[in-house]
Amino acid sequence: MSKTINFNNKYPPATAVFDNWATKGKDEGMAKGHANSVNFMFNKIKPYFNNQFSALDVGCGNGWVVRKFKELDTCRLSIGIDGAKKMIEKAREIDLDNEYIHSDLLEWKPQYLFNIIHSMEVLYYLEDPSKIIKKIYSEWLNSAGCFIFGIDHYSENPVSISWPEDVGVNMNTQSIGYWVSLMEDAGFRNVNYWQTGAKKDWMGTLVVFGEK
Ligand SMILES: C[S@@+](CC[C@H](N)C(=O)[O-])C[C@H]1O[C@@H](n2cnc3c(N)ncnc32)[C@H](O)[C@@H]1O
Repeated sequence: MSKTINFNNKYPPATAVFDNWATKGKDEGMAKGHANSVNFMFNKIKPYFNNQFSALDVGCGNGWVVRKFKELDTCRLSIGIDGAKKMIEKAREIDLDNEYIHSDLLEWKPQYLFNIIHSMEVLYYLEDPSKIIKKIYSEWLNSAGCFIFGIDHYSENPVSISWPEDVGVNMNTQSIGYWVSLMEDAGFRNVNYWQTGAKKDWMGTLVVFGEK
C-alpha cells in the first residue's frame, strides 16, 4: 500500500509555508500545542533511554524536541533536520550545542546511524511518505533502532480533513491502516499505534511505532 492516493499538489511546498511560520514566530505555539503528544511518545520509547543513545528529530521545526532529547542523561547525540531554512536558523540561534541540518528529508544522507528516530506532525506533508519511511528503516536507523512518529491529520480524525484548504498546504490524507502498512512494508517489526489526547470530536494524535 505504498501509493499515494490523496495528495492535492496545489499549494506551495510545506517547507515554504513553515519558513514563513518561523518568521512570524508561530513555531513556538506549535511546539506548545505538540508537547503532550511528544511527551506521550517519549513515554513509549522510554526503554530506549536506559542505555546511551543517539536521536534524530525529523522535521524538527525550531528544534525543541532535539533539545528535549539532549536533556536526558543517556543521550549522547541529538540532531534535527528540517527543510525550512528559517526554522533551522532559529534552532541554531537558540542552541549552539546540538546539530541542526537544513535539508529536504529525501535528499539527506546522514553520517551517523541513530538509535531513536522521532517525528511530530511532519510525514503527511510528503507526497509519498513510503519513501522516507523506507529510508529511515534501511539507511538512518542502526540495527537496534526504533522509529516513532505522531500525526494529527489522518482520515479517522474528521476535524483535520479541511486543514489543507484551511492552512493552504498540501497534505496527504490517509487512514491509520495506511500508516501502519507503510511501517510494516518498510520492514519494521512490533509495529503498534495509539491515539493520544482524544476528546469530543478530536480523535487524538495518531502515534505509530516500530522497531528495526
Ligand atoms: C507542523 S511542523 C512540525 C515541526 C516540529 N516537529 C514541531 O513539532 O514543532 C512540520 C515541519 O516539517 C517540515 N517539513 C515538511 N516537509 C519537509 C520536507 N520535505 N523536508 C524537510 N522538512 C520538511 C516543515 O518545514 C516544518 O518545520
